[in-house]
Amino acid sequence: MTKFYELTPAARRDLLIAAGLAEADAAVLAAPGLSPDVAASLTENVIGQYALPLGVVRALTVNGQSRTIAMVTEEPSVIAAANNGARIVNQSGGVTATAAPHRVQAEVVFDDVPDHQQAVAVLTAHRAGLFRVAEAAHPSAVKRGGGLKDITFSQRGRFMVMVLTIAPSQAMGANLADTIAEAVAAAAAGMLDQPALVAILTNHSDALVQATVSLTPATLRTSQVDGLTIARRIAALSDLAQVDPLRAATHNKGIMNGIEAAVLATGNDTRAVAAAVAAYSLGRPLSSWVLTAGRMVGQLTLPLPVGVLGGAISALPKAQAALRLGDFQTVSDLQCGLAALGLVQNLAALRALAGPGIQAGHMALQAKALAIAAGASGAEIQQVAAGLSAQTRTLAAAKQLLANLRGTTE
Ligand code: MEV
Repeated sequence: MTKFYELTPAARRDLLIAAGLAEADAAVLAAPGLSPDVAASLTENVIGQYALPLGVVRALTVNGQSRTIAMVTEEPSVIAAANNGARIVNQSGGVTATAAPHRVQAEVVFDDVPDHQQAVAVLTAHRAGLFRVAEAAHPSAVKRGGGLKDITFSQRGRFMVMVLTIAPSQAMGANLADTIAEAVAAAAAGMLDQPALVAILTNHSDALVQATVSLTPATLRTSQVDGLTIARRIAALSDLAQVDPLRAATHNKGIMNGIEAAVLATGNDTRAVAAAVAAYSLGRPLSSWVLTAGRMVGQLTLPLPVGVLGGAISALPKAQAALRLGDFQTVSDLQCGLAALGLVQNLAALRALAGPGIQAGHMALQAKALAIAAGASGAEIQQVAAGLSAQTRTLAAAKQLLANLRGTTE
């Protein structure tokens, strides 16, 4: 049977339609870009659109449910690696993932408060009033069971910091948090008789998502190396990332290869995720892999501030289609899917490093990129790529092959 990756994009979409993707969503995903009106209203000074390929990781089992996750990335091998990782973990039952309740926080900060304790006492005495202000700023959030949930105070140097904890329901929550923070800041300023220095969402997040797999080592084998040896090397690479910040950064980059591609495809804010992850990881690896009791156990923990409603998602038809493709109905569903994807992406990278190295898998894709750079198009891309042997993988060789193919001189 022809493999998914060997099909044309249209035939791949047909398979996804057969598996439940709505035809209208398939058409949206296939369409070239945004309507000019939408593009011009999403950001400023628009002079065009920037296209990237959209691919999928298929049938990644997360908490017993098979998910197809859309990914947008310019990097060759990322999607192939994710599918590879998914195939391996599915043989051992897939990924188990949990997400803490979705919360965002905002800070309202006062500078040079004359008496910190006195200020906290004043604001605490008006706590109920501050909650009413927050509700009035966004009544619909409260109706959906969300809105402001807590206010805490802390002193940071000369600054008095109010931290507002907000439940954003199924949105990412940045707009809601900023709206509530500005309203609470204005009210608190009146109570303290001094203006707030700043009122803004923090991209730091304590709401963590965790993904775990427990694999049969044999499933990790490569054509050259047995599974147990690969598992031992993966565990050693994980240990290395714990003690070597240089390796930890790259280890985490492999995880984010998958996560950021799916965050982008679902219309979420990649910078918010990157900032939260950087604040959380502090240069340490986000995942660990250990061989224990005959199993290879992998575990990933990170914050994933995303939403399934609101923000740019409402304006991006492909993001909505991507969310439906993955059946991501809640923030928790999406967070668990993203964490699972990050973990399998990490596994695929470590397995390649532990086995043949990373370049072996990249070679076919690099050959295609060289063919395109040489001017090949359509069927020529595959023909030129196939002709580029490992020794002659240069632009000059690609140009020569293309010239031979076209019967012209280089
Ligand atoms: C490349 O984009 C990502 C890797 O370097 C990750 C890793 O080394 O773990 C392959």
